[in-house]
Amino acid sequence: MTEPASDAPARPGLVVVLAAGAGTRMKSDLAKVLHPILGRPLLGHVLASVAQTQPHNVVVVVGHQRDQVEQYLAQEFPSVRTAVQVEQNGTGHAVRCALEGLAAQGVELGAEPVIVLAGDTPLISSDTLTDLVATHTRTHAAVTVLSAELNDPFGYGRIVRDADGDVLAIVEQKDATSQQAQINEINSGMFAFNPDTLVSALARLTTDNSQGEEYLTDVLAIAREDGLSVSAHKANDPDEVHGINNRAQLAAATALLRDRINTAHMVSGVTIVDPATAWIEPGAVLAPDAVIERNSAVDAHSSVGAGAVVGPDTTLLGTTVEAGARVVRSHCDGALIGSGANVGPFTFLRPGTILGARGKIGAFVEVKKSTIGEGSKVPHLSYVGDATIGEGSNIGAATIFANYDGEKKHPTVIGNHVRVGSDSILVAPVAIGDGAYTAAGSVITEDVPAGAIGIARGRQVNVNGWVARSRPNSDSASSAAAANGANDSGSEHE
Ligand code: UD1
Ligand code: MG
Repeated sequence: MTEPASDAPARPGLVVVLAAGAGTRMKSDLAKVLHPILGRPLLGHVLASVAQTQPHNVVVVVGHQRDQVEQYLAQEFPSVRTAVQVEQNGTGHAVRCALEGLAAQGVELGAEPVIVLAGDTPLISSDTLTDLVATHTRTHAAVTVLSAELNDPFGYGRIVRDADGDVLAIVEQKDATSQQAQINEINSGMFAFNPDTLVSALARLTTDNSQGEEYLTDVLAIAREDGLSVSAHKANDPDEVHGINNRAQLAAATALLRDRINTAHMVSGVTIVDPATAWIEPGAVLAPDAVIERNSAVDAHSSVGAGAVVGPDTTLLGTTVEAGARVVRSHCDGALIGSGANVGPFTFLRPGTILGARGKIGAFVEVKKSTIGEGSKVPHLSYVGDATIGEGSNIGAATIFANYDGEKKHPTVIGNHVRVGSDSILVAPVAIGDGAYTAAGSVITEDVPAGAIGIARGRQVNVNGWVARSRPNSDSASSAAAANGANDSGSEHE
């Protein structure tokens, strides 16, 4: 038999995450645990930390708005089990439902500690969970609660200790005496339990409290009455235990997570000009020497290369910005921006936009499902859809790629080193060959061969003297008379 190494990190047997409550204080049609912070639901943050502790089993207790929660879990955490709490009779009742549900699925409780967490404390880190299990194991306690000292403990259960400082019980805010309400050490709602203690105490919970619920927190007092030892592990960072019960707390936790993420990026060499207005989701990849300017957001599926500058006022969704590119005041969704390229200001990139190295998509340009080759430019006021543009081409100001005939979308293909004149309309499907030009103001409905110029507009006719005849005595007429007199006296009536 091999003994496990004594310094091996403690690993939980089972993690139970409570997510069945009604979340009444959110006043929302969306389940509380599905409210996102930085793009990921509260429950997802908890489960991501849990996954890093490598438990043998994870079960989420679902009930209220169960379909929504189960659907999310099936999509994002398919290996997590669920147990149903049909009526929400309290956190203790919820854990009982979890254990019953697991038994029905043939999962046996081993000897390792059972961790219980709430789905509404998204800032918990895996390190703190690992520390909780380590303290629990080291102190041979029957129950270990993760506690924290908060300046404003209102709303949380309080940790009641005896004269020796040993944990006696947890008292809920609504059940606390005014003296207990002074206690600053709070219950995070996270615990490590010995499986036997948990099962035995859960069977003895009552609803004798102000909310008429079976409180999980009462397990501590029951364990003490049984003569077992109860300990508390105080979180190093009290921010980790923030429970979300309303939208103000949701915003506060979001800001804390934002700061945590931004600090980690800055420590790794990313410049974040104003960390209070940079919203970087967990999962976003930022290379050292990337710069995030004010008021900008980078979602979980985006990346920013070395030396690239994003912002100010820019949103990246599922977008890759390669090294040295700049994206200013733009909204980019599903785009690839090549190295050294320039985007913005006021640019809208939609899914499927690929901009080659050193290319440019400028002010008031919208691009959808189009590839723009290396060094090619769409500098001003254009719509580009379903297009392929070669290298070194220039699309003049206010060019529209008319890709939609009212029923179907059609492609436009533009070669290398093409010059599309300003205010052209390219009616797809259409192709413009390498090195070709289009005249400004053209409506191009037929292909333009390589090296040709496509001109598709009315010819200009100047009718001399029209103003003097048709607008006599007007300011325009006298200006014209003065100009013509200066150039060529008397030529006005030719
Ligand atoms: C709970 C704790 C409190 C602690 C706080 C930390 C109890 C009695 N109180 O209070 O001591 O300071 O968390 O944030 O445990 N849930 C169920 N089924 C239920 C009831 C709740 O699954 O029947 C789930 C909820 O979905 C939620 C979690 O349990 O994810 C906590 O419930 P909540 O109502 O938020 O408890 P708090 O009042 O915050
Ligand atoms: Mg809560």
